[in-house]
Amino acid sequence: MNGWTVGIETTAHTFSFGLVDSKGIPYPSTSDTIKPEKGGIHPREAADHHKDFAAQLFRRALESQNLSIDDISAISYSQGPGLGPCLRVGAAVARSLSTALDVPLIGVNHCVAHIEIGRQQCGCNDPVLLYVSGGNTQVIARLNGRYRVLGETLDIGIGNMLDKFARSNGIPFPGGPVIEKLALQYLERVTEPTLEGLELPYAVRGMDLAFSGLMTAAQRLVENGQSLDAVCWSLQEHAFAACIEVAERALAHTGKSEVLLGGGVACNERMRTMSNLMAEERGGRSYVPPKMYCIDNGTMIARLGWLELEKRTTELHQSAIDQYLRTDQTPIVWT
Ligand code: ATP
Ligand code: FE2
Repeated sequence: MNGWTVGIETTAHTFSFGLVDSKGIPYPSTSDTIKPEKGGIHPREAADHHKDFAAQLFRRALESQNLSIDDISAISYSQGPGLGPCLRVGAAVARSLSTALDVPLIGVNHCVAHIEIGRQQCGCNDPVLLYVSGGNTQVIARLNGRYRVLGETLDIGIGNMLDKFARSNGIPFPGGPVIEKLALQYLERVTEPTLEGLELPYAVRGMDLAFSGLMTAAQRLVENGQSLDAVCWSLQEHAFAACIEVAERALAHTGKSEVLLGGGVACNERMRTMSNLMAEERGGRSYVPPKMYCIDNGTMIARLGWLELEKRTTELHQSAIDQYLRTDQTPIVWT
């Protein structure tokens, strides 16, 4: 590649353009996220938001690196998994740009992009990825040329669970960061916290996870008079410990020693601390990319497109989105 690769991310509530240069070096994304005033995200409303913002975000992304459209040599986009209406807007923008500029198009796997930007940013080699976002919660490792899902949520993503619990308590989207603040507030006011009276169900199911029971039980604690900050603390302790437990089992089974965190919930300091402790106890290491590359971002899509472009491009007739694209459907053709 001589020029820059543009990455287009629209799997859910965020529209994001990202850039990597001809050597695959990432630059910060230009993004906008729809924040519903009440209720969860409505896929069609999010898609309308994406349509409205596409043109101005693209202009701002180019301006951020003083580029003109002639500097672009490829267009990469999230082909799935995600919300159909949202993905379709990104794919349409990608097809139009690729056709208008006469540059190659490449549709990439959103989950794999989270892993690859993490590897690039952290310099880790062969990690077990704990991917904790709004819609996804997966433990993934590279085996026989694919990223395999070793465990995942059986119901809702951990971030959606945090957001829904927050919403039930009058906290707007995204609820995760506010829950983190409330949990810290609880620790400031209580010197010796215990889980007594704040117990929640066990979320681990073998190598999988389930969060809706945890959410309902946490809400019941609030309704029964426990303070919201105490319940936020307990909810984080239970939910994060469950994820870390599955990640630890994945390390034990695969014999790997690195953990890589990704997804929006990896912004959480308590999650990071728990992962560090677990990895260190096993003589390994936990890595986490900068927050702007944990949340959904176009740069990771550009980076994965750049990695794959030498081996494949996406023709227009192959460019349809796949809402249910699985992590292990993408062969790893790069190093
Ligand atoms: P995906 O499409 O991969 O499922 P997503 O669309 O949910 O991702 P992300 O940007 O990866 O988007 O993650 C957003 C989620 O991260 C939200 O649920 C939000 O509450 C959560 N989150 C962000 N910061 C924190 C934090 N500090 N603590 C806990 N959760 C957080
Ligand atoms: Fe994501």
